[in-house]
Amino acid sequence: MDQAERLRHIINSRNYKKQNNFKVITVTSGKGGVGKSSFVVNLAVALKLRGIKVAILDADIGMANVDIMYGIKSKYSLYDLIFNNKSINDITEITPEGVKIIPGGSGLKDIVDLNEEQRNRLLEEFEKLDDIDVLIVDTGAGISNIILSFISVSDEVILITTPEPTSLTDAYSLIKIIKGRYKDANINVVINKVKNIKEARETFDKLNKTVNVFLKTSINYKGFLFKDERVTLSIIEQRPYVIAYPKTEASMCIFKIASDIIGHKNENKNTTIKDLFFKLFGRMGLGS
Ligand SMILES: Nc1ncnc2c1ncn2[C@@H]1O[C@H](COP(=O)(O)OP(=O)(O)OP(=O)(O)O)[C@@H](O)[C@H]1O
Ligand SMILES: [Mg+2]
Repeated sequence: MDQAERLRHIINSRNYKKQNNFKVITVTSGKGGVGKSSFVVNLAVALKLRGIKVAILDADIGMANVDIMYGIKSKYSLYDLIFNNKSINDITEITPEGVKIIPGGSGLKDIVDLNEEQRNRLLEEFEKLDDIDVLIVDTGAGISNIILSFISVSDEVILITTPEPTSLTDAYSLIKIIKGRYKDANINVVINKVKNIKEARETFDKLNKTVNVFLKTSINYKGFLFKDERVTLSIIEQRPYVIAYPKTEASMCIFKIASDIIGHKNENKNTTIKDLFFKLFGRMGLGS
C-alpha cells in the first residue's frame, strides 16, 4: 500500500465508523407531563459531557419547550426552513453546553404535504448537519402518524412513565399501538419520579407483565429517575440539572442512562440525519 492509498484507506474507514455511529432515539409517553422534555434536555447534556455530538429535534408540535429549558428562545423552526427559505443553520440553536436544537414547530406536520422540490431542499439542508452522533427526538404526549413514522426509523424508543396508575395505563396503550404497528420496535422504559429503586423495578415489572400477557411481547428496562425537587428548580432556573446540580439524585440517574446508551453499540438504522428524513418520506408514502 503506497502512502496515498493508505491515506484513502484511513479516510474511508473513518467515514465508515462515523456513519455507523449515528443513533436516533425517540422519547415519548402515553400521558403528558411525565418528564419527557426535562429528561431529553439533561440526557443530551450528559451525552455531550461524554464527548458525544448531540442534537435534539423538538417534535412537540403543540408545546415545544426544549429551548426554554436551556434558557434559549428559538426564533425559527422547520416551518421557516420549509416555507420562509431559512437555512438549517438559521433555525438551529446551540446551547452553552454545545447541544444543537432543531425546533420542529408546526413545520413537522406539514412534512407530509411537501412537494418534491421542498422535500429535496429539506434533505439538502439536513445534509449540512452531518456532524451529529446522537439525535434525540422529543415528542408531545400520545401518538400521531408523524411520531409513529419517527419511531419506525429510530434505533430506540424511550418511553417515560411514572408509577402512577394513570400514567401506566396510558404507557400500556401506547406500547400496544407501537407494537401493533411495528412489532420489532425497540421500546425502552424509564420510570420517572420514583421514591426508590424498588418502586422503579416493581413499576416496570407490572408494566412488562401486562405487555407479556396481553401483547405477547416484551419491553426493556432502561432505568429510572428519582423524584427530585432540583428537577423542577432547574426548569425554573432554565439550566439543565446535570450542569446546575451534577450531584443531585436525578443527575446520577441521567449519567447512568447516558453511559448505558454510549456502551450499547448496535447496528444503527440511519447513517445521517438526511438519511433519516429520506426514510421518513418513504414511510409517509412520499416515495424517494
Ligand atoms: N424526576 C423528577 N422529579 C421531580 N419533578 C419532575 C421530575 N421529572 C419531571 N418533573 C416535573 O414534571 C413536570 C413535567 O416535566 P416535563 O415538562 O419534562 O414533562 P413532559 O413529559 O415533557 O410534558 P409534556 O407532555 O407537556 O411535553 C415539570 O414540572 C418537572 O419539573
Ligand atoms: Mg415536553
